[in-house]
Amino acid sequence: MELNHVYIGDCITVLNSDIKAKSVNLIFADPPYNLSGNGLKWEGNKTGGDWYMMNEDWDKMTDPEYLQFTKRWLEGSKRVLKDNGSIYISCTYHNVAEIMIVLKQLGFKINNVITWQKTNAMPNMTKRVFTHSAEFVVWAVKGKKWIFNYEDLKQINPEKQKDGSIKQMRDVWPMPLVQGKERLRGDNGRALHPTQKPEEMLKRIITASSDKGDVILDPFLGSGTTAVIAKKLGRKWVGIEKEKKYVNIAMKRIEKRTA
Ligand SMILES: C[S@@+](CC[C@H](N)C(=O)[O-])C[C@H]1O[C@@H](n2cnc3c(N)ncnc32)[C@H](O)[C@@H]1O
Repeated sequence: MELNHVYIGDCITVLNSDIKAKSVNLIFADPPYNLSGNGLKWEGNKTGGDWYMMNEDWDKMTDPEYLQFTKRWLEGSKRVLKDNGSIYISCTYHNVAEIMIVLKQLGFKINNVITWQKTNAMPNMTKRVFTHSAEFVVWAVKGKKWIFNYEDLKQINPEKQKDGSIKQMRDVWPMPLVQGKERLRGDNGRALHPTQKPEEMLKRIITASSDKGDVILDPFLGSGTTAVIAKKLGRKWVGIEKEKKYVNIAMKRIEKRTA
């Protein structure tokens, strides 16, 4: 198994063939949410700039296919995770049910369902439901001896007590969708990856459930956010991504970042 390396291919295959069993301390997974389909777009949106609904081939499955897919990549993840390892899975109301059911079926213990409160969420275009402004991160563990760096999290928590002193980190994380300098954009100004996750989210997850020198794996690496933050925090990393164009974007981003 190669460390600090991006495997190009389907994560189910790579997890079962290239990664050693029980070799990974922490997995962050941001799988397809299975919500692409109708190619909606809204150009000139005043609050957030042009808005395009996700429309990616890797994000279109039938419901039974999606449940089966979830089961297979989570089985592979369980195989490679150490007995005291943690897995954090990013999801929305679209797929949180499948994720939770499969985690329970595989014998994982669910420690938290963290709410990412998107402080700059897009307005609702249909005006027929509450405006969606949250995603979730499910934290599950394989055994009883998981790592939780409680004191380190207090130190990096931007929320403080009334008197300004440090505070326990809660399971609701207000943070914006990636924008400004952090957002990777092409020459045409469009985002290079449709679902780039906030670096702050990965900082909290990696700080919470790993130590320096540990191995962090991301089976859906995308633009490389997990690897960039793992490197910054002195961890080793392994990425898996099936789209060559995203592997190139991630590799450039990882190489460029020294701190
Ligand atoms: C939701 S995005 C991850 C975004 C990432 N967290 C970031 O910050 O950029 C999911 C990624 O998984 C990739 N993908 C989808 N199915 C895959 C599979 N079976 N194996 C490996 N990669 C896959 C997609 O190409 C996409 O880049």
